[in-house]
Amino acid sequence: MLLGDENPANFALTLLGFLYWGGTLWLMSLRYDIGFLGGGQLARMSIQAGQRAGLKCLSLDPSLESPASQIAPSIRGELKDVEKIAEVLRACDHVTLENEFILVDDIQKACELAKVPEKIIVPGLHSLHLIQDKLRQRIAMMKAGVPSPNAVELSGDGEQAIAEIGFPMVLKVRFGGYDGKGTYYAKTLEDLMKLKPTWSQGGWLAEQFVPFKREIAVMVYADSDSVGCFPTMETVQTDHVCDLVFPAGVDASAVAIAAVEAIDGKGLYGVEMFELSDGSFQINEIAPRPHNTGHYTLDWGGVSQFEQHVRLVMGWPTVPPHGRETCMANLLGKLPSGNHVQAIQDAISVPEVFFHWYGKIDAKAGRKMGHLNAVGTDSVKRAIQAREHFYRAWTTV
Ligand SMILES: Nc1ncnc2c1ncn2[C@@H]1O[C@H](COP(=O)(O)OP(=O)(O)OP(=O)(O)O)[C@@H](O)[C@H]1O
Ligand SMILES: [Mg+2]
Repeated sequence: MLLGDENPANFALTLLGFLYWGGTLWLMSLRYDIGFLGGGQLARMSIQAGQRAGLKCLSLDPSLESPASQIAPSIRGELKDVEKIAEVLRACDHVTLENEFILVDDIQKACELAKVPEKIIVPGLHSLHLIQDKLRQRIAMMKAGVPSPNAVELSGDGEQAIAEIGFPMVLKVRFGGYDGKGTYYAKTLEDLMKLKPTWSQGGWLAEQFVPFKREIAVMVYADSDSVGCFPTMETVQTDHVCDLVFPAGVDASAVAIAAVEAIDGKGLYGVEMFELSDGSFQINEIAPRPHNTGHYTLDWGGVSQFEQHVRLVMGWPTVPPHGRETCMANLLGKLPSGNHVQAIQDAISVPEVFFHWYGKIDAKAGRKMGHLNAVGTDSVKRAIQAREHFYRAWTTV
């Protein structure tokens, strides 16, 4: 339709369209220090760290109201849209990711389209290629002799899995799983066959069930000449979602570093592990980005995982991480719930508790809405107490 159209609704729509495209073109004409593929809470908290140093940041996300877009310029677009990724690559000196789901092939196509070298992207694409397929990731661990559950592709009638893995076995979708979505247990052959309609479509692996004592995690950072890590944390999962994170009292750095070296990692990696009853560790999975189990570093007094991430992306020196005992508790969406601002006061009435909210528009049940950190002695007890205060006030509407 043309501007002369007499229908006021059409005219308003056209005007909005012009404003949107005008705005997008204007954004693209600016230069940014860091571009984020994804605009969720991990991008938001990384941007906050970058902004402290005056860095200009841009994010790409399908939603115009994403956590990152509320604090910095953003482009609206699907993360699998190669043209949109290329827009970010063209506009930014450095680019990083918020999740491991964008296919390396698409990122490489976008680099060609934007005529920028792959090296402006941190984490290294080779490590992303190995991580984003959980089977490829397992094979990389096995090849490097890093302890992790044995895994095979699930195909045909599952003969190979039955022979090499046996029962109980864990079934996982190779690409795109998160928060336990895409993870199933088969205790018996019957269970495996019941799940067949799901896995027989292809793209699934079967791996050994690990009878772990607890789950732990370590954030590892690596640049071209050094590698180091944050402390080993225990992570308590509820319904497959990370619930509490606190110091584990053991040191799993050697295995975590070996896992990141096995994928030739460059950047920041969250390494999820199992601790067995004999005190040994096995790798569960690696995330090539800041991780929920590293959120405690925002308040522990040392360098935060987000600051370290920004430094790695910018090619700046990293900081050896040290800080105080801290426990992080996730704040998950509840229905019904009210205005979180009124509930903050109740949460932080517990001493040395710090509150973080991601600005998500919709508090869907179980969605990660924010987190709080309790710093110092008895951190776990105080984090739980503060969260109870918060939920009580927030859900009393
Ligand atoms: N081999 C295994 N043996 C026993 N339990 C397992 C195994 N693999 C996964 N689990 C359990 O399932 C959970 C989810 O698995 P995994 O971490 O691979 O999936 P995810 O959906 O990518 O996870 P998330 O996004 O929550 O980190 C683990 O945290 C662990 O509790
Ligand atoms: Mg996991």
